[in-house]
Amino acid sequence: MTTKRLGIIMHGVTGRMGTNQHLVRSVLAIMQDGGIVLKDGTRVMPDPILVGRNGKKIEELAKKHGVKRWTTDLTKALANKDDAIFFDSGTTQMRPDLLTKAIKAGKHIYCEKPIATDLKAAMKVCALAKKAGLKNGVVQDKLFLPGLLKLKELREQGFFGRMLNVQGDFGYWVFAGDDPSQPPQRPSWNYRDEDGGGIILDMVCHWRYVLDSLFGEVKSVSCIGATQLPARVDEAGKTYKATADDAAYATFELAGGVLAHINMSWTTRVYRDDLVTFQVNGTEGSAVAGLTECVKQSRKETPRPVWNPDQKQTIDFRGGWQKVPDKNYDNGFKVQWEMFIRHVMENAPYKYDLVEGAKGVQLVEAALKSWKQRRTIDVPKLKMPAGGAKKAAPKKSKSKPKSKAKKGGRR
Ligand SMILES: NC(=O)c1ccc[n+]([C@@H]2O[C@H](COP(=O)([O-])OP(=O)(O)OC[C@H]3O[C@@H](n4cnc5c(N)ncnc54)[C@H](O)[C@@H]3O)[C@@H](O)[C@H]2O)c1
Repeated sequence: MTTKRLGIIMHGVTGRMGTNQHLVRSVLAIMQDGGIVLKDGTRVMPDPILVGRNGKKIEELAKKHGVKRWTTDLTKALANKDDAIFFDSGTTQMRPDLLTKAIKAGKHIYCEKPIATDLKAAMKVCALAKKAGLKNGVVQDKLFLPGLLKLKELREQGFFGRMLNVQGDFGYWVFAGDDPSQPPQRPSWNYRDEDGGGIILDMVCHWRYVLDSLFGEVKSVSCIGATQLPARVDEAGKTYKATADDAAYATFELAGGVLAHINMSWTTRVYRDDLVTFQVNGTEGSAVAGLTECVKQSRKETPRPVWNPDQKQTIDFRGGWQKVPDKNYDNGFKVQWEMFIRHVMENAPYKYDLVEGAKGVQLVEAALKSWKQRRTIDVPKLKMPAGGAKKAAPKKSKSKPKSKAKKGGRR
């Protein structure tokens, strides 16, 4: 069997997502599995090079995981013709510039969401990648959660009948850092608007592909956000002003008349079965999914409650739901990496491209606009500028300072 080496430049891998999900659970796990065998029998073996600004940190990370190559010099790494893919899981604000550099260096692109902090920058990157004819992909990990895969299965079986509404509840308490015994679980930039933070930017881009793929294409959004904790403490122990939204409540109209409402909050304490849950109600049945589990209740099993505040509840509502059985699910990030590698190496179909990522940013902008203008915002079909794309590309090299690009689309 022939083995082909696949050089992958990995940026942002000292971060939360980069280390755990992309390096350890995906690329290294694929290597430990013996690579990926293509349809023609060729084995593809990833060969990552880790890139980061802090030489000590990146060297430590590489050594800890037995990765042979690491560097602090991104330009040099991109100049290496033997490395075909550029991956980024750095902060969101840096992403469009990094992707632009990598596309110009002829690399295929794979990255975390959101692909940019505003739609204009997102579309420029899409156009550039299209013009260069490079393969590109964005993480849409929620689609590969076992709980959501079970919902998909129920939908495909016609279990719901006509789907009516979806209620999503996402979030947990993120400690503000003001008590040393309870350090914050998320990076401080997440709570600064000027650094690309905000729960709407972070989460609404996920909801776009979840809603589009599982329940119906998003047609409009009505959203209200809030900054509920005005001050937090950063990684250095310094108190900073939280300028970004840390909670938001959004209602979406979907194709087919389905209504979806999603609460998202970093200022809520969990009293549900998981960190995110989706309840789907249809004429023939309902289901509730978390990250891994999913329960269902058909029309026949639906209880007939009567409102009576004078007596304690007699119905065990939770007892009337059936578990949807498990199947063999692999880590969703790894599954998507494998799909992308096949896309690059044997041209296998891959639908989670940068344009899909741009749709997420489009919905973020619409949600922010809705909040700002206190009204429902329509979400039109996103069109790739055919000729315009080519014209837009050369300007990209003189991209505006990050802060300016961000101000365009943010509240
Ligand atoms: N798919 C998901 O479920 C999911 C979850 C969380 C975060 N994300 C996305 O992943 C990305 C990273 O998020 P995170 O939580 O891992 O953040 P993080 O702060 O933990 O990591 C950010 C990485 O970028 C690097 N970095 C930061 N500033 C830099 C600079 N100026 N120059 C060079 N490198 C710099 C850091 O060293 C680190 O490696 C974000 O875009 C975020 O939206 C996705």
